Amino acid sequence: MKTIKLSATDSTNSFLKDLAQNSTLENFTTVVTQNQIKGRGQQQNKWVSEPHKNLTFSIFISFTDLKVVQKKYLNFAISLAIYDVLFANNLPKPSIKWPNDILSANKKICGILIENTFSGDRIKNSFVGIGININQETFPAYLNNATSLKLETGLEYDLDLLLKAILDEIKKNIKRLTSQNFNLLEEKYLDVLYKKNIPTMFKNSKDEIFMGMISGISDFGKLQVQLEDDVIKEFGLKEISFL
Ligand code: BTN
Repeated sequence: MKTIKLSATDSTNSFLKDLAQNSTLENFTTVVTQNQIKGRGQQQNKWVSEPHKNLTFSIFISFTDLKVVQKKYLNFAISLAIYDVLFANNLPKPSIKWPNDILSANKKICGILIENTFSGDRIKNSFVGIGININQETFPAYLNNATSLKLETGLEYDLDLLLKAILDEIKKNIKRLTSQNFNLLEEKYLDVLYKKNIPTMFKNSKDEIFMGMISGISDFGKLQVQLEDDVIKEFGLKEISFL
């Protein structure tokens, strides 16, 4: 497995995607930088990370037999791998907020951006971008919901060691995925899913507020919410937010 270390780059995801266009990449090729200048998040958000304090990296994973309808399992595999490593490093009250934010209590410590290419009904290549706040101690006011491993545990962490642990765990889970061990991944994910089975206030895309309880994840990865009349409704990423 090849790891490319860059002293600085705009976005490790963009760098890796450009590389894949111009060369044949070995599976699990990883690009990591300690200074990501224009980090990209989900839904056109930015990912801002203080240089030399955190992990910002992207992994190339190619598939031969993963159906588009199974893409939620890829998300489970990646987010659980990070969850497990943070849990093992004493992160208090960890959970995964759908689809793949890692939280400590109500604060976000990790964001994941998975960008796929497709071939027919299959996922061909996946560019998995991961940003984890590790040793950062202060955040700008607009990131008032952010935290880091150091803020939560009081300890300083070795970035290289953590990266290695995460890559090892991701490889293990991708093996589970390619050997179609889907149930295990789904069970574990639902077990640590933020607000699962807890009455919660949500907002829909029309800004209407409603109560519901997360009950599961649909085939295409939508959030299933049991409403007050017991009907289960499915929501995509742009259709629902937590209050
Ligand atoms: C999110 O929470 O919206 C996802 C954030 C993903 C950030 C990571 S940092 C490494 C990789 N490169 C990027 O430009 N984005 C991802």
